[in-house]
Amino acid sequence: MSDSRRLPVPVPARVSEGAANEVRDMESYRAHYEAARDPAYWLEQAKQRIVWRSAPSVACRGDFSSVGEAPIHWFEDGQLNVTESCLDRHLDARGEQTAIIWEADEIGEGRSLSYRELHAEVARAANALAALGVKRGDTVIIYMGMVPEAAIAMLACARLGAVHSVVFGGFSAHALRDRIVDCRARVVISQDEGRRGGRSIPLKAVCDEALEGLEQVESLLVFRRTGAEVAWREGRDHDWASALAAQPDTHEAVAVGAEDPLFILYTSGSTGRPKGLMHSCGGYLSWVAYTHANTFDLREGDVFGCVADVGWITGHSYIVYGPLCNGTTTVMFESVPTYPDAGRYWDLVARHGITIFYTAPTAIRALAAHGDAPVRAHDLSSLRVLGTVGEPINPDAWWWYFEVVGQGRCTIVDTWWQTETGGHCITPFAAATPNKPGSASFPVPGIQLELRDEKGARLEGATQGHLCITHPWPGMARTVWGDHARYVDTYFSTHPGRYFTGDGCRRDEDGYLFITGRVDDVLNVAGHRLGTAEFEAVLVSDDAVSEAAVVGYPHEVKGQGVCAYLVLQAEAEASPALLDKLQAELRAEIGALAKADRFLVIPGLPKTRSGKVMRRILRKIAEGEFEAIGDVSTLADPGVVDAIKAIASES
Ligand code: WTA
Repeated sequence: MSDSRRLPVPVPARVSEGAANEVRDMESYRAHYEAARDPAYWLEQAKQRIVWRSAPSVACRGDFSSVGEAPIHWFEDGQLNVTESCLDRHLDARGEQTAIIWEADEIGEGRSLSYRELHAEVARAANALAALGVKRGDTVIIYMGMVPEAAIAMLACARLGAVHSVVFGGFSAHALRDRIVDCRARVVISQDEGRRGGRSIPLKAVCDEALEGLEQVESLLVFRRTGAEVAWREGRDHDWASALAAQPDTHEAVAVGAEDPLFILYTSGSTGRPKGLMHSCGGYLSWVAYTHANTFDLREGDVFGCVADVGWITGHSYIVYGPLCNGTTTVMFESVPTYPDAGRYWDLVARHGITIFYTAPTAIRALAAHGDAPVRAHDLSSLRVLGTVGEPINPDAWWWYFEVVGQGRCTIVDTWWQTETGGHCITPFAAATPNKPGSASFPVPGIQLELRDEKGARLEGATQGHLCITHPWPGMARTVWGDHARYVDTYFSTHPGRYFTGDGCRRDEDGYLFITGRVDDVLNVAGHRLGTAEFEAVLVSDDAVSEAAVVGYPHEVKGQGVCAYLVLQAEAEASPALLDKLQAELRAEIGALAKADRFLVIPGLPKTRSGKVMRRILRKIAEGEFEAIGDVSTLADPGVVDAIKAIASES
C-alpha cells in the first residue's frame, strides 16, 4: 500500500478549509452529536432551517416502546407548507438563480429553471390539480421519468397539502396498479414517453394498462415529453401543458400541520407486498435540509449533482426537497452513465461546473471498468465532494472514485440511510471526517445506535451485529400507509423498543461503522431494493413451477445478483423457453429491474423437518461456498444439498 493510501484518509485541505455549516471538524461533530441527544436541538434546527406559518413549540412526542399505540410526532403544533421553504422564501434573494438544471438524455436538449420560474410552474400545476379536484389529504400518483415536471408535480401536490406517491418509471403496469389501489389515488400524473440512453419508455401506455377497468382514477394528467402519438381517453386524460397554461402563476399555499403526510413512497420488504412508507412535512424537511447542508458541507454557489431517480428516496431527499429547501442549484439527470459513452457523468460535471456529485457504487464500479481515460478527458476541477449511496462500496471502487474522479482533491461521503430514515443516518461529514474506505463512518447527530446480536443482547466495542436505532429522529417514516400494525411489526418487533434497520453492521476499534448488507430477505441489486418474496410470488404463479426460492449473491458490478432456485412440476421441462418465459413474467409483474441473473432448476429445496426452507444453505451455494454450508443433518432430506451443489457447479 502506497503512502497516500494510509488510513484513515484525511479530508483534503481545500475541502476542510472554509467549512460553512455546523459540523466543520471532528470537535464540532462531537459537540453537535452530544447536543442533538436532546430533542430541543431539533426544535432549534427546524425553526432556523424552515419557513413556518406558525412555529412549533414542542420537539418530539413518543418513543419506541409505545410506537404501536402512539406514533412518533415531531414539531406537532407547527404549521407550514413545505413549498414555501423550497420556493417562496428564495424569490427575493435568489429568484434568478438556477433552481433546476435539467440534463436531458440527448446532450444539449436540456434546460434550466430559475427559482422564479419554478415557483410559477408549481403554482400553475397546483392550480391545475385543484381544478381536477385535488385537495388537502388526497393522494396523487406520479409515474414519470427524470424531467423537471416530475419535481414540479411533487411540489404542486405539496402546495395543496396533497400527498404524492412517486412510482419509479421502471415499474410495470401491475406494480403501478397495486400502488394506485393501495393509496386510493384518484389522480395520476404521467408523461407520454420517458427517454433513457437513447431509447423511449412508453410511460403513458403502461399507465393505460395499469388503469384498465380501475374506475377509482378520475384524471390522468399527461406531460408530453417526446410528443409521440399516445392513446387518449376523453374525459379522463388531460394534457399537462394546456392544463397549466389555463392557470395563473400564483397560488396561495395551503398551510398544513407539521405531522401531515408529505408523501408516500413504496419500498420492498421481506414479505411479498411493497409497503407505502409515509413521511410527514415538518420532521422530514428539517432532516433533509440539515443533512444536505452538513453531510456535503454545502456552500453558497454549489451546483449539486445527484444522479439518482426521483422515483427513489434519494431523488426525493437530495434532488428535490433538501437542495431546494437550502436554495441550491440541483441537477435532474434523465440519461444513464454510459450514454452516449462512459464519459457522460464527467462531461455533465464539466459542463455544469458541478461541485458536489452524488451517485451509487454500482455506477462507480461499472465506470471504473471502462478505465481512467473517459474521466481524464474532462475537466473535473469544480468537484469538491463526492458522495455514494445505496449499497456498500468496496474499497477498490472507493479508491478509484477518490484517486481518479476526485484526483485526491475531493473528499468522499459514503452515506448510509434508507427509505425509512428519510435522510442520511450514518455518514462522513465532508468538512470533518477522515475516511476509511468501505466505512460510512459515524452516526449523524440525533442518531443513537446500537449493535445487537440475534438474541437481542447489546454488543459493545469492536463487534458485528444487527444495526438498530434507539431513539426517534425527525426524518423517520411515521407509519406504513393504512397499516400501522405492519410498520410496528416490521421495524420494532425484532428488537423491541428499537428501530431495526434490517442491515448488519461491523464496528471497528476506532468506532468506524461498516455496513455489511441486509440480514433479512431484501435484495439490493444495483442499489435497488427488491424483496425475495416478490420474485418468488411471481415465479410460483407460473404453472410449470412448483416451488421457488430466491437469494442474492455477490455480483461484481451490481453488488448483488439474483439467483432463483426452481423446483418444477412433475410434467414440466426445464427448457430455455421456460426460463425466458419466467424472465418475461418477472418483468411484467414487477418491472425491468427485476431480472434473475441465474436460474437453477433443482429437484427439491433444502427444508427442515418442519418444512422451513433453509435459505442460508441456498445462499452459500449461490456464493460458491460449498465448504461453508455446515451441518445439514437437521434437513428432512440431506441428500438434496449434494444434488443442488452438483447443479450449481455445472451452471
Ligand atoms: C443499503 C437508499 C451500505 C442498506 C437510500 C439499506 C447502504 C438499503 C448504503 C436502503 C451505504 C444504503 N452503505 N449500504 N452507504 N446506503 N444502503 O431504502 O442495505 O433504497 O438498508 O434507500 O440500502 O435502501 P433504500
